[in-house]
Amino acid sequence: MSIIIFRDYTLDTYQGDDIVQILLQSKTRMITYLCLNDVGITLLLFIFVSGIKNKMGLRKFSSITVRDTQNESFNNNNSVNKNNEFLHWFSGFTDAEGNFLISIDRNYVKLRFKISLHIDDLKVLQVIQSNLNIGRITVEEVRSRCSFIVEDISGINTICSIFNNYPLHTSKKLDFQDFYEALLIRTKEKIISPTNLEKILCLKNGMNSKREIFTYDITKSQIIIDPNWFIGFMEGEGTFGIKTGSSLYLQVAQKNTSQECLNGITNYLIALSNNTKYFHTQSNKILPLNVTSAINAKTSVVSLVVSNIDALYYYILPLLDESKFYSRKFEDFKLWRMALILKIRGYYYTLEGKNLFLEISEILNKRYSTTVSSENVKEIINNISKKFEDIIKKDSPFDIELDIPHTENVRKFSIANRSEKPKTVYIYTNEGLIEGSPFTSYSAAHFNLLGIVKYPFPSLKH
Ligand SMILES: *[C@@H]1O[C@H](CO)[C@@H](O)[C@H](O)[C@H]1NC(C)=O
Ligand SMILES: *[C@@H]1O[C@H](CO)[C@@H](O)[C@H](O)[C@H]1NC(C)=O
Ligand SMILES: *[C@@H]1O[C@H](CO)[C@@H](O)[C@H](O)[C@H]1NC(C)=O
Ligand SMILES: *[C@@H]1O[C@H](CO)[C@@H](O)[C@H](O)[C@H]1NC(C)=O
Ligand SMILES: *[C@@H]1O[C@H](CO)[C@@H](O)[C@H](O)[C@H]1NC(C)=O
Ligand SMILES: *[C@@H]1O[C@H](CO)[C@@H](O)[C@H](O)[C@H]1NC(C)=O
Ligand SMILES: *[C@@H]1O[C@H](CO)[C@@H](O)[C@H](O)[C@H]1NC(C)=O
Repeated sequence: MSIIIFRDYTLDTYQGDDIVQILLQSKTRMITYLCLNDVGITLLLFIFVSGIKNKMGLRKFSSITVRDTQNESFNNNNSVNKNNEFLHWFSGFTDAEGNFLISIDRNYVKLRFKISLHIDDLKVLQVIQSNLNIGRITVEEVRSRCSFIVEDISGINTICSIFNNYPLHTSKKLDFQDFYEALLIRTKEKIISPTNLEKILCLKNGMNSKREIFTYDITKSQIIIDPNWFIGFMEGEGTFGIKTGSSLYLQVAQKNTSQECLNGITNYLIALSNNTKYFHTQSNKILPLNVTSAINAKTSVVSLVVSNIDALYYYILPLLDESKFYSRKFEDFKLWRMALILKIRGYYYTLEGKNLFLEISEILNKRYSTTVSSENVKEIINNISKKFEDIIKKDSPFDIELDIPHTENVRKFSIANRSEKPKTVYIYTNEGLIEGSPFTSYSAAHFNLLGIVKYPFPSLKH
């Protein structure tokens, strides 16, 4: 079946075998795009981008879903939708790690979707393959790489159906659009005409690393980040970090060609501040979440960072705890989570807690280095987990039920401990250690000093 209705607007007419498209242009420059396929109708909002044409004169669209399409009219009872959360995750993971590839051999157009990872991440590819029930996995021991590859017609159709319903948000969505355009042409013509072959060649030559045009009308588009998309993206492009053995942070990095995706993520994270269902008291004294953004001028990579410990604990952690991770990043998260708990509950301010925190920090930072065997890492992590369980059985130094900022807890703690904490103060003169040394406080030392020596004061040494 092929029905295409374009109104007030002409575009190349695609005739997919099982695809019906209806394009309606309203008085504004909005275009509504309906895609009817064998499982239902997908409603997408497309925004026309004026003035931008690629080499073939085809218009570029920026697509955003207006509503949650699955809920709206997309038939819920199909293989694609059974696994809604997974597919959102998959979309995020693809934004981070996926590739859309077109190759042309004489008249034959080959479309390929590929995710290539380090061999240690083979498991996540297996999960993807078994969830989607498409594609194959290849393993290259020599290069320590493994790949999930989809290239057969039905697999590619499934891939396109997924990303039409679970939209990509980075500039990779432009690559997907080109890829999809090539699919529609290929579906239409068993033997591709020279003109269309030329078109596909142009698409191919303007994609991925060869892409030069990233602009599309973003004035109206607002990227809505799904929590599962965020986790998928984090698993590819995120970092659970500990800086200088003391401060925790969460970072997401992406080239500035995906700036509006970065803005979407920032808005999403800031909005988490409104999620107060995890607070113990009525009065929330915790400041809203703050995202800092920094660009590396050399690489044009933008880093979004959340580093406030309260924000990480009260706003971010509940989201992460509720989410499903599929890659090795989960191990990072578990380590990072322990460090976060040690700090927020004040164990970090005890000797034992601080030492464990430093152990976590060390393994987190060198986990991916090749100098540590993965067996060893496993054992170290097990040992850390055991120590952690033992430590948190003890009363926590800070009372987090009070929902007061971490810095306030630290201050209270240090005031409470200042007077009672015994000190060791050694005082030397030219003759050596003075009588009574070491003293247990500065005031005791000072008092003795006044009775024994006259000016000039001896220098205090530790
Ligand atoms: C959307 O889906 C949720 C859960 O499946 C349902 O409760 C809600 O009524 C749906 N909304 C619409 C507008 O269909
Ligand atoms: C979904 O489809 C399956 C078979 O394809 C069928 O057995 C089942 O009853 C359907 N469920 C609903 C809610 O329509
Ligand atoms: C939080 O919610 C309030 C009211 O519900 C709203 O005014 C405010 O803009 C929200 N803040 C964020 C960051 O979403
Ligand atoms: C956000 O964090 C940055 C860096 O930590 C700080 O300079 C800025 O004042 C913070 N903004 C708010 C609103 O807290
Ligand atoms: C990205 O950053 C580079 C400088 O690092 C700048 O020249 C370029 O205009 C930026 N692109 C976008 C889309 O902001
Ligand atoms: C783990 O703990 C056990 C028992 O405490 C110890 O013998 C072992 O050396 C530790 N392993 C590592 C890698 O630290
Ligand atoms: C520090 O003070 C707290 C009370 O805020 C007390 O419970 C704790 O035992 C003290 N710790 C040390 C090491 O003195």
